[in-house]
Amino acid sequence: MKAIGIVPGRPETAGVVDLPEPPLSDGSLLVRTRLIGMCGTDVEIAVDGYGVPPPGEDRLVLGHESLGEVVEAPEGTGFEPGDLVVGIVRRPDPVPCPACAADEWDMCHNGGFVERGIKERHGYGSERFRVDPRFAVRLSPALGDLGVLLEPTSVLAKAVEHAERVGARGWFEPRVALITGAGPIGLLAALLVRQRGLETHVVDVVTQGAKPKLVADLGANYHSTPVGELPLAPDIVIECTGLGVVARDATRIAGPGAVIALTGISHSEHVMEARPDVMNKALVLGNKAVFGSVNAARRHYDQAADALARADPDWLSRLITRRLAPEDWPLALEKRPEDIKIVIDMAAGE
Ligand code: BGC
Repeated sequence: MKAIGIVPGRPETAGVVDLPEPPLSDGSLLVRTRLIGMCGTDVEIAVDGYGVPPPGEDRLVLGHESLGEVVEAPEGTGFEPGDLVVGIVRRPDPVPCPACAADEWDMCHNGGFVERGIKERHGYGSERFRVDPRFAVRLSPALGDLGVLLEPTSVLAKAVEHAERVGARGWFEPRVALITGAGPIGLLAALLVRQRGLETHVVDVVTQGAKPKLVADLGANYHSTPVGELPLAPDIVIECTGLGVVARDATRIAGPGAVIALTGISHSEHVMEARPDVMNKALVLGNKAVFGSVNAARRHYDQAADALARADPDWLSRLITRRLAPEDWPLALEKRPEDIKIVIDMAAGE
């Protein structure tokens, strides 16, 4: 069967590979893959060599953002043929660490976890995949292809849930949210905070294309002014650019008691003036909290499924801006200005 593979760090090796049928050791559910979403992590795997293939192999099958239909589900698994499912990315550390043992593999303490399509396990980017029912999430059939947005939404569901939990250390009634970056992650973050009724502001450098309108259609405000100059004092910031300078400025303008969630990483070699004592003073005297957030536990996938089911499907479908056949997946590595989410149609040409 066809799969989308690459040797991490060698973009010229991106292509379609021929794989045997998925092994039963991957899980008892057999799934026919519909769509695979591509994100910045896939580009980092291709270009910067971020990912790690399974032991003994040099090529990694990509695809941590998945969507498929169950073909085989043994009795008692709670799944049935035809169910629309998404596979969870991370597997707990087999040792395991105390956080993984509590089903919070997203909070793994010793780094022994593996991630499908990223770290030491092939991804879901093959015509069929197998998954253990414990790591499969069933979606409402009404969501259809939009279910491919579940995994990135789960990452934001975690960041927002944790922001609320951190905020709850004291009196916290957030009213204003700032999202930095209007890529797929920023737009999904904006969706989640709008669903909570927060006054939402999204800032990005682009002034044209689909992003400003997508933000406006959520009932949120779009800005293209530098973050440090925004006339806002947000209670919650979800930082989605991965740029340290943006995180610093967002933290500075955030209001008293604000919680700032950092969800992105970047390889920018930007050198900035750092005045650690000024930052220290602002955090202390403002009771502000900054935290990093990666991956998602099972409950965040469930929260994300709920959020997507409540969202406007037309709005969600505008996030998917390119659909490629598996043979053309390497084109996803070249970012175009109008791109938001690129998906690979694993059933194209069937
Ligand atoms: C994925 C996460 C993963 C992270 C780090 C992100 O793109 O969405 O599930 O934990 O990369 O590998």
